[in-house]
Amino acid sequence: MPYTPLDVERVRSSLATAPLGHRILYLREVTSTMDVARQEALLRGAEEGLVVVAEEQTAGRGRFGRAWVSAPGENLSFSVVLFPGHWASARLSIAASVAVMRAVRRVTGLEPSLKWPNDVRLGGGKVSGILVETAVLDGQVRHAILGIGINVNADPSGRLSEGYDATCLAKELGLPVSREAVLQAVLEELGAIYHELKGWGDAWQEWGTSLETLGRGVRVQFGDQVEEGMAQGVDGDGNLVLRRADGSLVTLTAGEVTLQA
Ligand code: BTN
Repeated sequence: MPYTPLDVERVRSSLATAPLGHRILYLREVTSTMDVARQEALLRGAEEGLVVVAEEQTAGRGRFGRAWVSAPGENLSFSVVLFPGHWASARLSIAASVAVMRAVRRVTGLEPSLKWPNDVRLGGGKVSGILVETAVLDGQVRHAILGIGINVNADPSGRLSEGYDATCLAKELGLPVSREAVLQAVLEELGAIYHELKGWGDAWQEWGTSLETLGRGVRVQFGDQVEEGMAQGVDGDGNLVLRRADGSLVTLTAGEVTLQA
């Protein structure tokens, strides 16, 4: 069936100052944009923010090995190459779901919700799915490929082998929706959130590696209470985890620390 190709140039030019989408690789048919993006990252040294978008995926994939189906000329299937580092990579799929939600709200005025962890839904149906694939080398995240599928103008319900409630933006809005506007908005929103994530990740890492407290015997005083032990590490909120002499662990949210010799 003939269709109007995505106007990638329009999207790219409107993203001139955004951190993601400086380069958009537009393809008619691929196995999966995840595969192409991975090859670009591994073999061709793609820069961060490269977007691979395809009209048709012959082997589009979702979470848990499920297939992802999408109509050419109607919906959006794309992957973004990112170099997030460990900290940001753990939060990437959450960040992406918020970016898609914000973009949908911005372009359509509709109010999406999320189904844990990252399905974006409207009117009881799924409009977007998110998949993150990371490559780890020597314990470090080498790259992450963030894949996003959005049902913009076609509801794939009839074509799904595994039944889930799907819908599309146009159906919920009652009007056709510009794929270019949605892609642009997602990349802008994602760029903004990712920038914060990455910046925080660097600061967090620097904080953790600079903590001379860790691995040392400490005495922590808070009010009248005192805890003594080995500073074992910090948890995800930055609280200090202390191993007492009897082997038990205690998490301390505040206190004045005295380092022991
Ligand atoms: C899910 O909900 O299970 C995730 C679906 C992710 C689909 C997108 S479409 C673009 C990218 N290429 C793929 O093969 N999958 C992701």
